[in-house]
Amino acid sequence: MEAVSLNEATRAHLADSYPHNHDYRVVGSDMRAKWKLARRWRRLRSHWPSDIGSFLDIGCSKGFFVLQAAHRGAAALGIDIHEADLAACEAVREHLGLEGARFQHKTLEELAVEGESFELVHLVNTYHYLYFGSDRGPAIASDHSVIFERLAAVTSGTLIFSNCESFERCPAWIKEHASAEERAGYTPEALRSAASKWFEIEEHKDLGKRPLWVGHKK
Ligand SMILES: C[S@@+](CC[C@H](N)C(=O)[O-])C[C@H]1O[C@@H](n2cnc3c(N)ncnc32)[C@H](O)[C@@H]1O
Repeated sequence: MEAVSLNEATRAHLADSYPHNHDYRVVGSDMRAKWKLARRWRRLRSHWPSDIGSFLDIGCSKGFFVLQAAHRGAAALGIDIHEADLAACEAVREHLGLEGARFQHKTLEELAVEGESFELVHLVNTYHYLYFGSDRGPAIASDHSVIFERLAAVTSGTLIFSNCESFERCPAWIKEHASAEERAGYTPEALRSAASKWFEIEEHKDLGKRPLWVGHKK
């Protein structure tokens, strides 16, 4: 099949836009991660099983992990709330001819209601947006129990989680906009306690400056 060409604007978006630790280039039919993404990808893929039936990335950004999962034969879904990223993801998917990848403008809340669940789920550098909201969209809930209940609903096997777990380590935008109540509730202890209700937590070395753990659905 003839490859669908990627335009320059899409290539530039993939290679140089927020978040820069998700920048990559598409060369022919290869996805070439720039160094920050390459470093994270090495760590994250070491936790991927050799065989993945279904994969979900919540806050998929420019879609690299979803496309990698589809390349390995998984039925892979990326959800995000940023239209420009989703359009770029769809363009690369088409260019690479990866039929197994889907990208949707959707929240975790909406997906959980639909009832589809996935063997392997990524939630990387996105949890704080589900808890606090952001300039891109509202929070799911400023309540860890509610978020982890939704995460458990969409995960049938394993959740790979990496994020700031204490308020002090959250991005500046969140520090400026959080209420006192939200801030008080955002502690590693509260987050882990909610996660543990649904997942057996396996600790790993930090990913960059952020904790990384793998949760096995109970
Ligand atoms: C810091 S980026 C992380 C991207 C990717 N997970 C990674 O590790 O490279 C956060 C992403 O979450 C998305 N996002 C923010 N709020 C969201 C929400 N409520 N639901 C889904 N995605 C969201 C943003 O649009 C952005 O693409």
